[in-house]
Amino acid sequence: MSTRNQTLGEFIIENQTAFKYSSGELSRLINSIRLAAKVVNHEVNKAGLVDILGAAGDVNIQGENQQKLDVYANEKFIQTLTKRNIVCGIASEEEDDFIAINSQDENHQNKYVVLIDPLDGSSNIDVNVSVGTIFSIYRRITPVGTPVKMEDFLQKGCEQVAAGYVVYGTSTMLVYTTGAGVNGFTLNPAIGSFYLSHPNMKFPETGTIYSVNEGNYLDFPLGIKKYIKYCQEESEDRPYTSRYIGSLVSDFHRNMIKGGIYMYPKGSRNPNGKLRLLYECNPMAFLAEQAGGKSSDGYTRTLDEVPTSLHQRVPFVCGSKKMVEKVEEFMREFGE
Ligand code: AHG
Ligand code: MN
Ligand code: MN
Repeated sequence: MSTRNQTLGEFIIENQTAFKYSSGELSRLINSIRLAAKVVNHEVNKAGLVDILGAAGDVNIQGENQQKLDVYANEKFIQTLTKRNIVCGIASEEEDDFIAINSQDENHQNKYVVLIDPLDGSSNIDVNVSVGTIFSIYRRITPVGTPVKMEDFLQKGCEQVAAGYVVYGTSTMLVYTTGAGVNGFTLNPAIGSFYLSHPNMKFPETGTIYSVNEGNYLDFPLGIKKYIKYCQEESEDRPYTSRYIGSLVSDFHRNMIKGGIYMYPKGSRNPNGKLRLLYECNPMAFLAEQAGGKSSDGYTRTLDEVPTSLHQRVPFVCGSKKMVEKVEEFMREFGE
């Protein structure tokens, strides 16, 4: 089938049978994410026009100021995902605990749990720089019809059935995988539909971009410091450049298209790194692997980490395969 002018809605229906549990529920779930993404996009786009900028006044469980749009995006995604009878539980960066859906109804058939970072890169909102939404989807492991439990959320990343992100950038894109490659869709704002613009996205095997907050350099493990110096050394075969937006979704998206590596290592200020395993690192790691890239904490594969808590943080190194392998080489040699 030609991908010309194919909408996300058409793509979801046409590819439904390729998914191993092709009951149509996952397709409906992706559809509800598509809908929430459009609503949030509308709000993000007018952020400079209305009084929606600035902190909402609350501090989330991780002690970070919540921005108004964080709260708005969180509500919209939760509302949209709750309405259809597909999802039995949601965990969000903005919620202390997971939300159980239909927990009192023994007849419900809801099979999926969703973990979301409703607004990623939120410190960029006030300065008109791209932000995003990240989502990760699992099938529950406890029996259908019973209240969802913590163990349904604390599954290893390799158990994800789908993951993706929305980037609210110069154009708005939804990029996702159900384990059969990565496809990107661009929103046509005039029509309100996402169109398949980036079929079968692939990380170049290697690249020239490294993305890391170098303000934390002194705090980094020795292996990471050595890797950064390696990138900075003058050499004909090492034409590296540094690009860091400070919004994981945007940094990842650029690196996947151009070839590059994203790193958020641990340090004394962030002893486990900063990024959250369940709704930031795992979905990005799944996308990276599906696009031929690689993701680890510098030593071991992100998708094999056994989660112990909802808001757990892990060091994160993700991107073009050869570049991640190089960092792992440096970590093995120089370590902490
Ligand atoms: P969030 O806005 O959801 O809290 O995520 C911010 C994350 C990530 O998007 C970004 O790459 C990273 O924090 C930036 O951290 P630093 O400002 O410490 O570099
Ligand atoms: Mn985030
Ligand atoms: Mn966030």
